[in-house]
Amino acid sequence: MNNSLKNDLLIRAALAQPTERPPVWMMRQAGRFMKEYWEIKNKYSFLEMCKTPEIAADVTMLPIDLLGVDAAILFSDILVTAEAMGGDLSFEQGVGPRFSNPVRNLQDAEKLSVDCLDKLQYVADAIKVIQQRLDGKVPLIGFAGAPFTILSYLVEGGSSKDFKLTKTLLNNEPALAHNILQKIADVTVAYLNMQIDAGVNALQLFDSWALALSWNDYKEFAHQYNDYIISRLNREHVPVISFCKGSSVFAPLMAETKPNVVSVDWNADLLNIKKALPAGMAVQGNLDPFVLYADKPVIKKKILDLFERMRGEEGFIFNLGHGIMPDIPFDNVKYAVEVIKEFRY
Ligand code: CP3
Repeated sequence: MNNSLKNDLLIRAALAQPTERPPVWMMRQAGRFMKEYWEIKNKYSFLEMCKTPEIAADVTMLPIDLLGVDAAILFSDILVTAEAMGGDLSFEQGVGPRFSNPVRNLQDAEKLSVDCLDKLQYVADAIKVIQQRLDGKVPLIGFAGAPFTILSYLVEGGSSKDFKLTKTLLNNEPALAHNILQKIADVTVAYLNMQIDAGVNALQLFDSWALALSWNDYKEFAHQYNDYIISRLNREHVPVISFCKGSSVFAPLMAETKPNVVSVDWNADLLNIKKALPAGMAVQGNLDPFVLYADKPVIKKKILDLFERMRGEEGFIFNLGHGIMPDIPFDNVKYAVEVIKEFRY
């Protein structure tokens, strides 16, 4: 599959092979900071966009055509697994994701279905359409949410500032938490292997909110399940990227799950993180996304500072420490990509 890629920078960097410059893609690269996204979004709901392969493909292609990034990421959401398991999911303007039937006790947990891959067939269909459109131009990254992060949405019923209900569940009813986490992990293994079968070139596991956890709780409620998932993927030709906010702290544990790449938030020095990882494990990151609100000379300097720091390292993918915010100027994102693509080691 990768032999047929015209631009395989991302795959080479993920495998810690030499590249002439760092490859670039950005989390939330297909999103609300683009007027072309709104032209589509104004006609459909977010979930309609995710569930209609032609539309998901149109949106996936926007940053390839308009920004020239080195990888596409499937247009979808981490919460589609939770929806397939029985979560009643909606996305409301200005509110974000909501589950109207939160999972808070054993009866709720027992209603969650594990045998639900057929409900996610639209994702496999979208991957096939996207690969036709890409025609080998750049690799396609598939993804899923990690069990702890998905659990937090199911328990809270949506986004949360402090994860109070989720952490209370972990503390007071760990057995119930493990019951739900195991179900999510089993669905996620099947779902990611389905994405591999459908033709993705790389995978990213998003544990966005692991930052909320203590070291011991991360090991028990996040790490263990991420390890379970990554060790069960048919990944011989598909590099795996492990992302969490909190990776500056949890990177040594993330490395134990043997991803190809650890995606790092912006708190840590990226070179120090890389040097502490096993040889041959790549890093992705780690520009603070708020830099993209700054003046262009500042954007350029901060990117080049990062690149100078990483010079000579094999296995480095440029990304932000977290996703692009909706009100970041498009022009700044485009400029950042240009600066990166002009750089040579
Ligand atoms: O990165 C990409 O461009 C690919 C598509 C993608 C989306 N969500 C599209 C999206 C990906 C990879 C995600 C992952 C995702 N979704 C995460 C993990 C990454 C992260 O940010 O930590 C999380 C936590 C979610 C859950 C989620 N989805 C939230 C909290 C929200 C709304 C909150 C907000 O305003 O950001 C979404 C909605 C969502 N997912 C949008 C997009 C483009 C906005 C939908 C809209 O247009 O209203």
